[in-house]
Amino acid sequence: MSTNPTLPLTRADAQAMDAADPLARYRAEFSLPDGIIYLDGNSLGALPRRVSGRMRTVVDAEWGQGLIRSWNDAGWYKAPQRAGAAIARLVGADADEVIVCDSTSVNLYKVLMGALRMRAGRRIVISERGNFPTDVYVSARVAEQTGCELRTFDPADIPAAIAEAGDDLAVLHLTQVNYKTGAVHDMAALTAQAQAQGALAIWDLAHSAGTLAVDLNGCRADFAVGCGYKYLNGGPGAPAFVFVARRHLDTLWQPIAGWHGHASPFGFTEDFAADPGIARMLVGTAPQLSLLALEEALTVFDGIDMAALRRKGQALGDLFIRLVDQELSAHGFGLASPRDADARGSQVSLTHPQGYAIMQAIIDRGTIGDFRAPDILRFGFAGLYVGYADVWDAVAILREVMDTGAWDTADYRAVKAVT
Ligand SMILES: Cc1ncc(COP(=O)(O)O)c(C=O)c1O
Repeated sequence: MSTNPTLPLTRADAQAMDAADPLARYRAEFSLPDGIIYLDGNSLGALPRRVSGRMRTVVDAEWGQGLIRSWNDAGWYKAPQRAGAAIARLVGADADEVIVCDSTSVNLYKVLMGALRMRAGRRIVISERGNFPTDVYVSARVAEQTGCELRTFDPADIPAAIAEAGDDLAVLHLTQVNYKTGAVHDMAALTAQAQAQGALAIWDLAHSAGTLAVDLNGCRADFAVGCGYKYLNGGPGAPAFVFVARRHLDTLWQPIAGWHGHASPFGFTEDFAADPGIARMLVGTAPQLSLLALEEALTVFDGIDMAALRRKGQALGDLFIRLVDQELSAHGFGLASPRDADARGSQVSLTHPQGYAIMQAIIDRGTIGDFRAPDILRFGFAGLYVGYADVWDAVAILREVMDTGAWDTADYRAVKAVT
């Protein structure tokens, strides 16, 4: 932040930051309702305008008119590879090391099973205590199926746990940015430590892809997975992606042998022969409608410098924290995210015992974040469509709801199915 840290910040300061922001023009690429401040791109990204038109063409022309011919004529068949190549640039991978398919959970299962096979004889999988539940559930079940042991640790204890596992460590499996706190792991250091012991490193990039300057190959990561619907803006339930480092591509055993992962799917042979490249990660027919929406959404990133986008996400988070300190100190909020922007992803999490009702009250007033039990209010700062004045306005609404006690109603306290 360029403003004087000793003076209270004003809305005019935030507006000046917007005026100086080279990424501000990307906001026009998104279709966001008037009066809404959208701070939930870490959960479901906003709708890129161009996706609506693309979907009309896909549905009416490619499906409606082209029918099955569109698998060839409209290029549907290679869409998993094309979308993968677009994501590869954002996560520091080569175009042919990433493919779009299935969900993050399913892709995690595939790479974990494959990685454990590559390290047969070793028994330990290490992950983070407090990792996203699907990561823990999948790896616990995979450990059960393979006779391995899943060990989870608080972030600060992971290096010592890796060292202690010695040459029994098969896989280190971490999410780069914690979904609740936004805390970031040191991907390069932890990958190097695990690999020095002969283990493999799998990274979940659900809260990194499209917002951090991820460098998978620079860190020598072995495998990675991530969501298409968060910062990549692919739409609700968009397919996920999976990365396999080139050195493993021709050897990785993929446990769900389906016809789209075959070297020659339209040969219709009885025996399975895995595709020699990244297409071996495919299983069955791709959900074209959501895949093509994601592919179109990814074109918004064309020409974007991820280091600049990362810096903006950090600056938005810094501004939010500073304004929470300035405006909300009387209201009992805690900070669940690191204060240091380098140790934090593009979200800031606050704690409050009445967090659920408070979040409902601000959503009702047009500022959308989300809530994670037991007491976390999450605010995501997607730099492509969130501005500095938005952050100011969001904190002003939070303050108004707290000053007036407007959050304290039975309606706001009533917990809905999706939080
Ligand atoms: C870290 C992490 N991994 C995985 C997922 C979800 O994966 P899936 O696409 O299988 O629902 C999420 C969803 O929020 C997540 O935060």
